[in-house]
Amino acid sequence: MKAYILNTPGDSSNLQIKEVPVAEVNQDEVLVKIKAISINPVDVKTRAGMAFYSRLKDLDPLILGWDIAGIVEKTGGNVSEFKIGDEVFGLVNFLGHGKAYAEYVAAPAAQLALKPKEIPFVDAAAATMAALTAYQVLVKQAKVKAGQEVLIPAASGGVGHFAVQIAKYLGARVTGTSSAKNLEFVHSLGADEALDYTTADLDNKLKTFDFVFDTVGGENIDRSLPLIKAGGTLITIPTLPGEGAAARAMALDVSAYFYLVSSDGDSMKVIAELLEKGVLRSHVSKVFPFEEMAAAHQAVESGRTVGKVIVTV
Ligand SMILES: NC(=O)c1ccc[n+]([C@@H]2O[C@H](COP(=O)([O-])OP(=O)(O)OC[C@H]3O[C@@H](n4cnc5c(N)ncnc54)[C@H](OP(=O)(O)O)[C@@H]3O)[C@@H](O)[C@H]2O)c1
Repeated sequence: MKAYILNTPGDSSNLQIKEVPVAEVNQDEVLVKIKAISINPVDVKTRAGMAFYSRLKDLDPLILGWDIAGIVEKTGGNVSEFKIGDEVFGLVNFLGHGKAYAEYVAAPAAQLALKPKEIPFVDAAAATMAALTAYQVLVKQAKVKAGQEVLIPAASGGVGHFAVQIAKYLGARVTGTSSAKNLEFVHSLGADEALDYTTADLDNKLKTFDFVFDTVGGENIDRSLPLIKAGGTLITIPTLPGEGAAARAMALDVSAYFYLVSSDGDSMKVIAELLEKGVLRSHVSKVFPFEEMAAAHQAVESGRTVGKVIVTV
Protein backbone atom coordinates (compact mmCIF):
# COMPACT_ATOMS: atom_id res chain seq x y z
CA MET A 1 0.00 0.00 0.00
CA LYS A 2 1.03 3.62 -0.39
CA ALA A 3 1.81 5.59 2.76
CA TYR A 4 3.53 8.84 3.67
CA ILE A 5 6.72 8.20 5.64
CA LEU A 6 8.48 10.83 7.74
CA ASN A 7 12.20 10.05 7.93
CA THR A 8 13.39 13.39 9.22
CA PRO A 9 11.37 16.29 10.61
CA GLY A 10 11.14 19.44 8.54
CA ASP A 11 8.89 21.09 5.99
CA SER A 12 5.99 19.49 4.14
CA SER A 13 8.30 18.06 1.42
CA ASN A 14 9.75 15.72 4.09
CA LEU A 15 6.56 13.63 3.83
CA GLN A 16 7.62 11.01 1.30
CA ILE A 17 5.13 8.70 -0.40
CA LYS A 18 6.41 5.09 -0.31
CA GLU A 19 5.21 1.53 -0.89
CA VAL A 20 4.94 -0.37 2.45
CA PRO A 21 3.28 -3.67 3.46
CA VAL A 22 -0.45 -3.47 4.21
CA ALA A 23 -0.99 -3.08 7.96
CA GLU A 24 -1.58 -6.33 9.94
CA VAL A 25 -4.59 -6.38 12.30
CA ASN A 26 -4.48 -7.82 15.82
CA GLN A 27 -7.48 -9.52 17.49
CA ASP A 28 -9.04 -6.23 18.62
CA GLU A 29 -8.49 -4.26 15.41
CA VAL A 30 -10.15 -3.80 12.05
CA LEU A 31 -8.39 -3.08 8.77
CA VAL A 32 -9.87 0.08 7.28
CA LYS A 33 -9.52 0.97 3.59
CA ILE A 34 -9.10 4.71 3.90
CA LYS A 35 -11.36 7.08 1.95
CA ALA A 36 -10.58 10.37 3.73
CA ILE A 37 -8.04 11.69 6.25
CA SER A 38 -8.30 14.93 8.17
CA ILE A 39 -5.21 17.05 8.74
CA ASN A 40 -4.72 18.74 12.11
CA PRO A 41 -2.30 21.35 13.44
CA VAL A 42 -0.73 18.56 15.58
CA ASP A 43 0.15 16.64 12.38
CA VAL A 44 1.91 19.72 11.05
CA LYS A 45 3.73 20.45 14.33
CA THR A 46 4.84 16.80 14.66
CA ARG A 47 6.06 16.75 11.06
CA ALA A 48 8.13 19.86 11.81
CA GLY A 49 9.78 18.13 14.81
CA MET A 50 7.58 19.65 17.52
CA ALA A 51 4.50 18.35 19.42
CA PHE A 52 4.75 14.53 19.56
CA TYR A 53 7.78 14.08 17.27
CA SER A 54 10.16 13.14 20.09
CA ARG A 55 7.69 10.51 21.26
CA LEU A 56 7.34 8.95 17.79
CA LYS A 57 10.77 9.51 16.24
CA ASP A 58 12.12 6.00 16.84
CA LEU A 59 9.24 4.30 15.01
CA ASP A 60 10.24 2.88 11.65
CA PRO A 61 8.50 3.63 9.41
CA LEU A 62 6.91 6.67 11.06
CA ILE A 63 3.53 7.29 9.40
CA LEU A 64 1.76 10.44 10.61
CA GLY A 65 -1.98 11.09 10.92
CA TRP A 66 -4.75 10.02 13.29
CA ASP A 67 -8.10 11.00 11.72
CA ILE A 68 -9.75 8.53 9.37
CA ALA A 69 -12.95 7.59 7.57
CA GLY A 70 -13.15 4.45 5.47
CA ILE A 71 -14.50 0.96 4.89
CA VAL A 72 -13.81 -2.12 7.03
CA GLU A 73 -11.91 -4.65 4.93
CA LYS A 74 -10.93 -7.21 7.59
CA THR A 75 -11.80 -7.79 11.27
CA GLY A 76 -9.70 -9.22 14.13
CA GLY A 77 -10.92 -12.34 16.00
CA ASN A 78 -12.33 -10.43 18.99
CA VAL A 79 -14.23 -7.84 16.95
CA SER A 80 -17.99 -8.35 16.92
CA GLU A 81 -19.11 -4.74 16.58
CA PHE A 82 -18.05 -4.21 12.95
CA LYS A 83 -18.18 -6.38 9.85
CA ILE A 84 -16.54 -6.26 6.45
CA GLY A 85 -18.07 -3.46 4.36
CA ASP A 86 -19.05 -1.24 7.32
CA GLU A 87 -18.29 2.45 6.88
CA VAL A 88 -16.46 3.76 9.95
CA PHE A 89 -14.65 6.84 11.24
CA GLY A 90 -12.57 7.80 14.26
CA LEU A 91 -9.41 9.14 15.90
CA VAL A 92 -6.90 6.28 15.83
CA ASN A 93 -4.35 5.62 18.60
CA PHE A 94 -3.96 9.21 19.70
CA LEU A 95 -1.36 10.03 20.98
CA GLY A 96 0.35 6.86 19.89
CA HIS A 97 1.13 5.80 16.33
CA GLY A 98 -2.05 6.45 14.28
CA LYS A 99 -0.49 5.71 10.84
CA ALA A 100 -3.43 7.38 9.10
CA TYR A 101 -1.56 8.75 6.05
CA ALA A 102 -1.94 5.46 4.19
CA GLU A 103 -4.29 3.49 1.95
CA TYR A 104 -5.08 1.06 4.82
CA VAL A 105 -5.02 1.51 8.59
CA ALA A 106 -5.24 -1.10 11.36
CA ALA A 107 -7.48 0.59 13.94
CA PRO A 108 -8.69 -0.64 17.36
CA ALA A 109 -12.43 -1.32 16.97
CA ALA A 110 -13.03 0.38 20.35
CA GLN A 111 -11.90 3.71 18.86
CA LEU A 112 -14.30 3.76 15.89
CA ALA A 113 -17.98 4.40 15.21
CA LEU A 114 -20.19 3.54 12.27
CA LYS A 115 -20.34 6.44 9.83
CA PRO A 116 -23.93 7.57 9.23
CA LYS A 117 -24.77 6.45 5.67
CA GLU A 118 -25.82 9.88 4.42
CA ILE A 119 -22.70 11.66 5.73
CA PRO A 120 -19.93 11.75 3.07
CA PHE A 121 -16.54 10.24 3.99
CA VAL A 122 -14.96 13.70 3.74
CA ASP A 123 -17.37 15.16 6.33
CA ALA A 124 -16.98 12.12 8.59
CA ALA A 125 -13.17 12.33 8.52
CA ALA A 126 -13.52 16.02 9.44
CA ALA A 127 -15.54 15.13 12.55
CA THR A 128 -12.85 13.07 14.30
CA MET A 129 -10.06 14.72 16.37
CA ALA A 130 -11.55 18.24 16.15
CA ALA A 131 -15.11 17.15 16.97
CA LEU A 132 -13.95 14.69 19.64
CA THR A 133 -11.86 17.39 21.33
CA ALA A 134 -14.83 19.77 21.36
CA TYR A 135 -17.11 17.02 22.71
CA GLN A 136 -14.71 15.80 25.41
CA VAL A 137 -13.93 19.35 26.60
CA LEU A 138 -17.48 20.73 26.62
CA VAL A 139 -19.39 17.65 27.75
CA LYS A 140 -16.96 15.55 29.80
CA GLN A 141 -14.59 18.15 31.25
CA ALA A 142 -16.47 21.46 31.53
CA LYS A 143 -19.91 19.81 31.78
CA VAL A 144 -21.45 22.88 30.14
CA LYS A 145 -25.06 23.47 31.20
CA ALA A 146 -28.03 25.19 29.55
CA GLY A 147 -27.99 28.94 30.12
CA GLN A 148 -24.24 29.21 30.77
CA GLU A 149 -22.20 31.86 28.98
CA VAL A 150 -19.49 30.20 26.88
CA LEU A 151 -16.69 31.93 24.95
CA ILE A 152 -15.07 30.10 22.04
CA PRO A 153 -12.06 31.95 20.61
CA ALA A 154 -11.10 30.86 17.06
CA ALA A 155 -14.66 29.72 16.47
CA SER A 156 -13.92 29.51 12.71
CA GLY A 157 -11.23 26.84 13.18
CA GLY A 158 -11.42 23.07 13.11
CA VAL A 159 -12.09 22.60 16.82
CA GLY A 160 -13.86 25.96 17.23
CA HIS A 161 -16.55 25.37 14.59
CA PHE A 162 -17.55 22.06 16.21
CA ALA A 163 -17.35 23.61 19.69
CA VAL A 164 -19.84 26.36 18.81
CA GLN A 165 -22.35 23.78 17.54
CA ILE A 166 -21.94 21.46 20.54
CA ALA A 167 -22.15 24.31 23.09
CA LYS A 168 -25.36 25.53 21.42
CA TYR A 169 -26.73 21.98 21.49
CA LEU A 170 -26.04 21.91 25.24
CA GLY A 171 -28.14 25.08 25.58
CA ALA A 172 -25.34 27.54 26.34
CA ARG A 173 -25.26 31.14 25.18
CA VAL A 174 -22.26 31.15 22.86
CA THR A 175 -19.88 33.93 21.87
CA GLY A 176 -17.32 33.05 19.20
CA THR A 177 -14.36 35.07 17.95
CA SER A 178 -12.72 35.25 14.54
CA SER A 179 -11.27 37.90 12.26
CA ALA A 180 -13.79 40.09 10.39
CA LYS A 181 -13.79 37.88 7.28
CA ASN A 182 -15.09 34.87 9.23
CA LEU A 183 -17.72 36.52 11.46
CA GLU A 184 -20.59 35.54 9.17
CA PHE A 185 -19.41 31.92 9.22
CA VAL A 186 -19.31 31.96 13.05
CA HIS A 187 -22.89 33.31 13.13
CA SER A 188 -23.93 30.60 10.65
CA LEU A 189 -22.79 27.95 13.16
CA GLY A 190 -25.39 29.23 15.62
CA ALA A 191 -23.23 31.53 17.79
CA ASP A 192 -25.34 34.12 19.61
CA GLU A 193 -22.54 36.65 19.20
CA ALA A 194 -19.53 36.74 16.89
CA LEU A 195 -16.77 39.20 17.80
CA ASP A 196 -13.75 40.31 15.80
CA TYR A 197 -10.74 39.48 18.00
CA THR A 198 -8.67 42.21 16.33
CA THR A 199 -10.90 44.88 17.96
CA ALA A 200 -11.46 45.66 21.66
CA ASP A 201 -15.10 44.44 21.56
CA LEU A 202 -14.19 41.26 23.40
CA ASP A 203 -12.26 43.08 26.14
CA ASN A 204 -15.46 44.86 27.23
CA LYS A 205 -16.96 41.54 28.34
CA LEU A 206 -15.38 41.58 31.81
CA LYS A 207 -16.53 38.73 34.11
CA THR A 208 -19.16 37.61 31.57
CA PHE A 209 -18.34 33.97 30.88
CA ASP A 210 -18.79 30.80 32.90
CA PHE A 211 -16.47 28.91 30.58
CA VAL A 212 -13.81 29.73 27.98
CA PHE A 213 -12.67 27.03 25.56
CA ASP A 214 -9.27 28.39 24.52
CA THR A 215 -8.08 26.96 21.20
CA VAL A 216 -5.55 29.76 20.60
CA GLY A 217 -3.20 29.65 23.61
CA GLY A 218 -0.44 32.09 24.66
CA GLU A 219 -1.63 35.70 25.02
CA ASN A 220 -5.20 34.64 24.36
CA ILE A 221 -5.25 32.99 27.80
CA ASP A 222 -4.19 36.28 29.47
CA ARG A 223 -6.81 38.12 27.45
CA SER A 224 -9.55 35.65 28.34
CA LEU A 225 -9.00 35.34 32.11
CA PRO A 226 -10.55 38.73 33.10
CA LEU A 227 -13.62 37.85 30.99
CA ILE A 228 -14.45 34.85 33.21
CA LYS A 229 -16.74 35.06 36.26
CA ALA A 230 -15.24 34.16 39.65
CA GLY A 231 -15.60 30.40 40.04
CA GLY A 232 -15.52 29.91 36.24
CA THR A 233 -13.20 27.76 34.14
CA LEU A 234 -10.84 28.05 31.19
CA ILE A 235 -9.67 24.95 29.38
CA THR A 236 -6.85 25.44 26.91
CA ILE A 237 -5.78 22.92 24.27
CA PRO A 238 -2.71 24.26 22.38
CA THR A 239 -0.21 24.09 25.29
CA LEU A 240 -0.10 24.14 29.10
CA PRO A 241 -0.88 27.57 30.60
CA GLY A 242 2.40 29.26 31.63
CA GLU A 243 3.21 29.92 35.29
CA GLY A 244 2.16 33.58 34.96
CA ALA A 245 -1.24 32.67 33.53
CA ALA A 246 -1.76 30.01 36.18
CA ALA A 247 -1.04 32.55 38.94
CA ARG A 248 -3.36 35.16 37.37
CA ALA A 249 -6.12 32.56 37.08
CA MET A 250 -5.76 31.68 40.75
CA ALA A 251 -5.91 35.35 41.76
CA LEU A 252 -9.15 35.73 39.77
CA ASP A 253 -10.65 32.55 41.29
CA VAL A 254 -10.70 30.93 37.84
CA SER A 255 -9.75 27.32 37.24
CA ALA A 256 -7.45 27.11 34.17
CA TYR A 257 -6.01 23.90 32.81
CA PHE A 258 -4.79 22.05 29.71
CA TYR A 259 -6.67 19.14 28.20
CA LEU A 260 -5.49 16.55 25.68
CA VAL A 261 -7.99 14.61 23.56
CA SER A 262 -7.86 10.81 23.51
CA SER A 263 -9.21 8.16 21.14
CA ASP A 264 -12.70 7.22 22.31
CA GLY A 265 -15.16 5.11 20.32
CA ASP A 266 -18.07 5.73 22.71
CA SER A 267 -17.84 9.49 22.21
CA MET A 268 -17.42 8.91 18.44
CA LYS A 269 -20.78 7.12 18.52
CA VAL A 270 -22.39 10.21 20.07
CA ILE A 271 -20.75 12.36 17.39
CA ALA A 272 -22.12 9.99 14.73
CA GLU A 273 -25.62 10.46 16.18
CA LEU A 274 -25.25 14.25 16.25
CA LEU A 275 -24.10 14.21 12.59
CA GLU A 276 -27.00 11.96 11.64
CA LYS A 277 -29.55 14.25 13.35
CA GLY A 278 -28.02 17.31 11.67
CA VAL A 279 -27.15 18.82 15.06
CA LEU A 280 -23.49 18.78 14.04
CA ARG A 281 -22.23 19.64 10.56
CA SER A 282 -18.65 19.45 9.36
CA HIS A 283 -17.46 22.45 7.42
CA VAL A 284 -14.75 21.29 5.01
CA SER A 285 -13.09 24.24 3.30
CA LYS A 286 -10.36 22.41 1.37
CA VAL A 287 -10.05 18.90 -0.05
CA PHE A 288 -6.75 17.62 -1.51
CA PRO A 289 -6.01 14.32 -3.30
CA PHE A 290 -3.62 11.89 -1.51
CA GLU A 291 -0.76 12.93 -3.85
CA GLU A 292 -1.07 16.53 -2.55
CA MET A 293 -0.49 15.85 1.16
CA ALA A 294 2.24 18.53 1.21
CA ALA A 295 -0.23 21.18 0.00
CA ALA A 296 -2.75 20.08 2.65
CA HIS A 297 -0.04 20.50 5.32
CA GLN A 298 0.83 23.96 4.00
CA ALA A 299 -2.84 24.99 4.18
CA VAL A 300 -3.17 23.91 7.83
CA GLU A 301 0.21 25.44 8.65
CA SER A 302 -1.10 28.86 7.54
CA GLY A 303 -3.26 28.90 10.70
CA ARG A 304 -5.96 30.66 8.68
CA THR A 305 -8.12 27.79 7.44
CA VAL A 306 -11.85 27.76 8.10
CA GLY A 307 -13.31 24.51 9.43
CA LYS A 308 -11.36 21.45 8.29
CA VAL A 309 -8.81 20.43 5.63
CA ILE A 310 -9.22 16.91 4.22
CA VAL A 311 -7.15 14.57 2.06
CA THR A 312 -8.99 11.93 0.03
CA VAL A 313 -7.50 8.54 -0.80
N1 LIG B 1 -5.05 19.39 23.29
C1 LIG B 1 -5.79 18.78 22.35
O1 LIG B 1 -6.35 17.71 22.59
C2 LIG B 1 -5.98 19.42 21.00
C3 LIG B 1 -6.87 18.85 20.08
C4 LIG B 1 -7.08 19.49 18.85
C5 LIG B 1 -6.38 20.68 18.56
N2 LIG B 1 -5.48 21.16 19.46
C6 LIG B 1 -4.77 22.43 19.20
O2 LIG B 1 -5.74 23.48 19.22
C7 LIG B 1 -5.37 24.51 18.33
C8 LIG B 1 -6.52 24.78 17.37
O3 LIG B 1 -6.73 23.66 16.52
P1 LIG B 1 -7.68 23.78 15.25
O4 LIG B 1 -7.65 22.48 14.56
O5 LIG B 1 -8.97 24.36 15.64
O6 LIG B 1 -6.83 24.87 14.41
P2 LIG B 1 -7.15 25.55 13.02
O7 LIG B 1 -8.35 24.93 12.39
O8 LIG B 1 -5.90 25.56 12.22
O9 LIG B 1 -7.48 27.07 13.41
C9 LIG B 1 -7.54 28.00 12.39
C10 LIG B 1 -8.49 29.13 12.79
O10 LIG B 1 -7.94 29.85 13.89
C11 LIG B 1 -8.38 31.20 13.80
N3 LIG B 1 -7.46 32.03 14.58
C12 LIG B 1 -6.12 32.11 14.45
N4 LIG B 1 -5.63 32.97 15.37
C13 LIG B 1 -6.69 33.42 16.10
C14 LIG B 1 -6.84 34.33 17.21
N5 LIG B 1 -5.77 34.95 17.74
N6 LIG B 1 -8.08 34.51 17.71
C15 LIG B 1 -9.16 33.90 17.18
N7 LIG B 1 -9.08 33.07 16.12
C16 LIG B 1 -7.86 32.82 15.60
C17 LIG B 1 -8.37 31.48 12.32
O11 LIG B 1 -9.37 32.43 12.06
P3 LIG B 1 -9.01 33.86 11.41
O12 LIG B 1 -8.36 33.54 10.07
O13 LIG B 1 -10.33 34.52 11.33
O14 LIG B 1 -8.01 34.49 12.36
C18 LIG B 1 -8.69 30.11 11.68
O15 LIG B 1 -10.04 30.02 11.23
C19 LIG B 1 -4.07 24.02 17.66
O16 LIG B 1 -2.99 24.55 18.39
C20 LIG B 1 -4.11 22.51 17.84
O17 LIG B 1 -2.83 21.90 17.84
C21 LIG B 1 -5.27 20.56 20.67
